[in-house]
Amino acid sequence: KKKKRRPVRVYMDGCFDMMHYGHCNALRQARALGDQLVVGVVSDAEITANKGPPVTPLHERIIMVSAVKWVDEVIPDAPYAITEEFMKKLFNECDIDYIIHGDDPCLLPDGTDAYALAKKAGRYKQIKRTEGVSSTDIVGRMLLCVRDRSVSGNQTHASLQRQFSHGHSQKIEDGGSSSGTRVSHFLPTSRRIVQFSNGKGPGPQARIVYIDGAFDLFHAGHVEILRLARGLGDFLLVGIHTDQTVSAHRGAHRPIMNLHERSLSVLACRYVDEVIIGAPWEVSKDMVRSFSLNLFA
Ligand code: CTP
Repeated sequence: KKKKRRPVRVYMDGCFDMMHYGHCNALRQARALGDQLVVGVVSDAEITANKGPPVTPLHERIIMVSAVKWVDEVIPDAPYAITEEFMKKLFNECDIDYIIHGDDPCLLPDGTDAYALAKKAGRYKQIKRTEGVSSTDIVGRMLLCVRDRSVSGNQTHASLQRQFSHGHSQKIEDGGSSSGTRVSHFLPTSRRIVQFSNGKGPGPQARIVYIDGAFDLFHAGHVEILRLARGLGDFLLVGIHTDQTVSAHRGAHRPIMNLHERSLSVLACRYVDEVIIGAPWEVSKDMVRSFSLNLFA
């Protein structure tokens, strides 16, 4: 009889500040390199020391990372760089086989590679960074959204600029347009949506719960409401409103994230079974029938 193979455990760390689908895609790829994914969420103090203060505090970043369906365990308060001591802990206490990071250079303030030791130990693997999204880019879109507003808008602008001008190599650009058009460099492909999907429909007896919304800038509050909604039944279907619907109700500068970006963030959440990409504002009789909806959250 074949002996049962020990699961391959992989470790990915990061700040996961203003969590977006690029982070989720990194976690998805990391999980695919093993059987179990352990994620180290870097402490506020370590982020501040290495690239300036984070926008979202540690407890919120932990909620966001834990909610991603590819994450098995979370190590809170992880160090920014993999030190000799921390690497020993990962290998000996946490049974980690590989340390994983995106293919972007991750340099410490002194210019050295944060993953040098892991690479030297032959325990480093790389995943492809997701193009078209970053926290810096999202802040740029938010600046565009507040730019034309009054004094309070200017204050928001200034504080966002201040928070993000330090330690981020990328220059913040607000797109240079005042027409309200957002600059997203994201190209939605059917493959990416399939990669994020569960690929399973509800069982014949399932109680299907429906919840809809904009789910713009997916945050801890969204995670909590999706968790509660899922708890009401067996299958959670989430309707994501179109960009036009969101603009009509929240103003020309919203949403910050477009329909496909919002759909990916929701799909990555462990409480979600399926999404409707572009749901109507009002639930129609047809929808109730064709999706066999029986509970509305
Ligand atoms: N990552 C990625 N694609 C992105 C952004 C991040 O694959 N568009 C990956 C990083 O390479 C890293 C992990 O997500 O392995 C955690 O990222 P984080 O430490 O938060 O890094 P940043 O690169 O600072 O992310 P951002 O620029 O969006 O703040």
